[in-house]
Amino acid sequence: MDFRKIANEFKTPTYVYDQNKIEKNYQKLYHAFSSHYKNFKIHYAVKANPNPAIIKILLDQGAGVDCSSPGELEAALRAGTKKENILYTGNYESQEDLSQILNADIKFNLDDLTSFERLLEIRKTDFVSFRINPGMGKGGHEAVVTGGTDAKFGIPYEKAFEAYKIAKEAGVQRFGLHMMTGSNNLEPYFFREAVEKLMEIGGDIFNRLDIKPEYVDIGGGFGIPYTEEDVYLDVELLGRLVCEKFTKKLDEYSLGRPQLLIEPGRYLVGNAGILITSVTGVKESYRTFVGVDAGMNTLARPALYQAIHRVSTPYNSGPTRKMNLCGQVCENADIFAKNLDLPKNLKEDDLVLLHDVGAYGFCMSSVYNGRPRPAEILINSDQSKLIRRRETIEDLFQFYP
Ligand code: LLP
Repeated sequence: MDFRKIANEFKTPTYVYDQNKIEKNYQKLYHAFSSHYKNFKIHYAVKANPNPAIIKILLDQGAGVDCSSPGELEAALRAGTKKENILYTGNYESQEDLSQILNADIKFNLDDLTSFERLLEIRKTDFVSFRINPGMGKGGHEAVVTGGTDAKFGIPYEKAFEAYKIAKEAGVQRFGLHMMTGSNNLEPYFFREAVEKLMEIGGDIFNRLDIKPEYVDIGGGFGIPYTEEDVYLDVELLGRLVCEKFTKKLDEYSLGRPQLLIEPGRYLVGNAGILITSVTGVKESYRTFVGVDAGMNTLARPALYQAIHRVSTPYNSGPTRKMNLCGQVCENADIFAKNLDLPKNLKEDDLVLLHDVGAYGFCMSSVYNGRPRPAEILINSDQSKLIRRRETIEDLFQFYP
């Protein structure tokens, strides 16, 4: 990639995505599961990168989507997603959220029985799926563990029978089953264990109520390596372990062959994004700091989760020294990396790249400190296309009366 050319044309900071990588990630994950279980579909978790151009790439590969808010639902619709390919998984869904779900006529995984009660106040439904907290969770950081006793998500599994029973009594005839136990998990055996637990919880409920699930959605959470030390998640092994356990449990509870769904975000788009930044200043203080024109406002993950993103300097090399890489925001949390070996000859306007920012990058950016958000570019072969223009200072004032 000619980063200098992109920087000259679109300025910096700019998010750049590689279409080819997204397509490869999808194919790899799809085959890892579908070769072991035929009735399988991937619903891309739009929250990871809701740019409609990115959603469109995944739709063209055959994916559906999973949305977590009316705004994400709108992004999916704008990308051209057909309603039968849209799932909605929210959290503490409001009456307004639920109305939008019902109006859109899409499938949904409800976060709680109380969500179902709110939904019934709007309209009767013949379909319901509940998100179950299977009592276990795992993630790359404690903030992204979404199952287990500290998680705010889902119905505790001990209460799940009651929820399905009430739904059946309310006239529901079609059912789904859902869980999502954490994000950025690199451990295939954990997923197998969680699937086993979910299927035992669900199998018991479905048998006792004499109902069958249309689908079982085991969520996303498949991790990617961010550092040289991280292992790769072996998705072939993951697909085999999960599908074998899933099929075994289906047979044990005589549940037929419902659709198996997964909702990955990070695995599909994470490694396909690079953030191009320019050096704004190099300072000799008690440490050496390299300031760039992106910060925690542009990429929040390091400040929020102490996340590490690999850094490279495509046009500088030679002897290095230890430097701290930071943004321009007026907070000391605005440091991307400490004690990095960076080329001594780095100076103003040189380019610094932050890697693996395709997931939870742009979508978590803000206009903090009055900095408009960056542009987003999509690269396909060697064509680059603007898929979201850089915001301007003028844009920041459009909401004031
Ligand atoms: N499905 C549901 C219901 C979810 O809540 C999530 C992510 C996903 C699917 C997709 O998970 P993935 O495959 O991307 O791990 N901002 C954090 C990650 C938060 C994930 C929240 N839920 C980060 O930057 O690491």
